[in-house]
Amino acid sequence: MNTNNIYNKAIALVTGANKGLGFEISRQLAQKGIVVLLAARDPQKGTEATDKLQSEGLDVEFIKLDVTDSATITAAAQQIRDRFGKLDILINNAGIYLDRNVQPSQLDINTLQQTFAVNFFAVFNITKTFLPLIKLSQAGRIVNMSSTLGSLGDTLDPNSPYFDFRGIAYQSSKTALNALTVQFAKELADTPIKVNSACPGWVQTDMGSTDAPLSVEQGADTPVWLATLPPDGPTGGFFNSRQPLAW
Ligand SMILES: NC(=O)c1ccc[n+]([C@@H]2O[C@H](COP(=O)([O-])OP(=O)(O)OC[C@H]3O[C@@H](n4cnc5c(N)ncnc54)[C@H](OP(=O)(O)O)[C@@H]3O)[C@@H](O)[C@H]2O)c1
Repeated sequence: MNTNNIYNKAIALVTGANKGLGFEISRQLAQKGIVVLLAARDPQKGTEATDKLQSEGLDVEFIKLDVTDSATITAAAQQIRDRFGKLDILINNAGIYLDRNVQPSQLDINTLQQTFAVNFFAVFNITKTFLPLIKLSQAGRIVNMSSTLGSLGDTLDPNSPYFDFRGIAYQSSKTALNALTVQFAKELADTPIKVNSACPGWVQTDMGSTDAPLSVEQGADTPVWLATLPPDGPTGGFFNSRQPLAW
């Protein structure tokens, strides 16, 4: 292992970080002194977002990454290896929600496939590609942005506020994402790396709409907490408001 180029500051990569929760998570991590690689698929949007955080005095750099494009994923990993020699924190944040209130029988299979491409297959591809770099960190942390809408427990519970939600593409993609969290956490149980799923709550973003009760600052709290867990923190869990959620 070549340790010459290993940075002594922690390095974080946040996907889908040009706006919404990813942007705020990037801000809060950088405010903790972490070097943040703000990943976005659109260079103009990514650069504008990065400029904004840099103007706040934060150590943030733009990195191009379309989560559905393997070439941009491998290029980003190579860039990070050359520049920093490791990755400490990976936040799989990019996500889409295309089938709000659509009954399963009315769903187009293309929407289901498109949703899984971003919310599930991409997370697998990115996690697998970046894992060798995360293994070079002394305290690797992987946070998958999930949702209570992916909780089978809540979906089956008539007393849950989420009982009546319909959206099999989004909901099952987040259920699958939670399974991915558990499987990687189990594989990495004997390493310092922690892998957890976070639900940010219902948050005011383009996805969450202005009807949502929570600000992005509040929504970023749990993922940022999971990204900076101490060595005795949990792994293989699913959390909202820093508390365990039903699977
Ligand atoms: N808001 C909520 O209430 C809520 C609740 C539970 C869970 N979540 C989860 O939190 C995460 C962030 O949500 P948000 O509310 O911040 O959503 P948002 O405002 O819609 O932002 C989504 C981000 O994902 C990016 N993205 C989408 N497809 C991409 C791709 N192929 N490659 C790279 N980036 C891509 C978007 O980039 P573009 O700007 O280029 O489209 C954008 O930066 C999602 O995983 C979501 O499921 C949100």
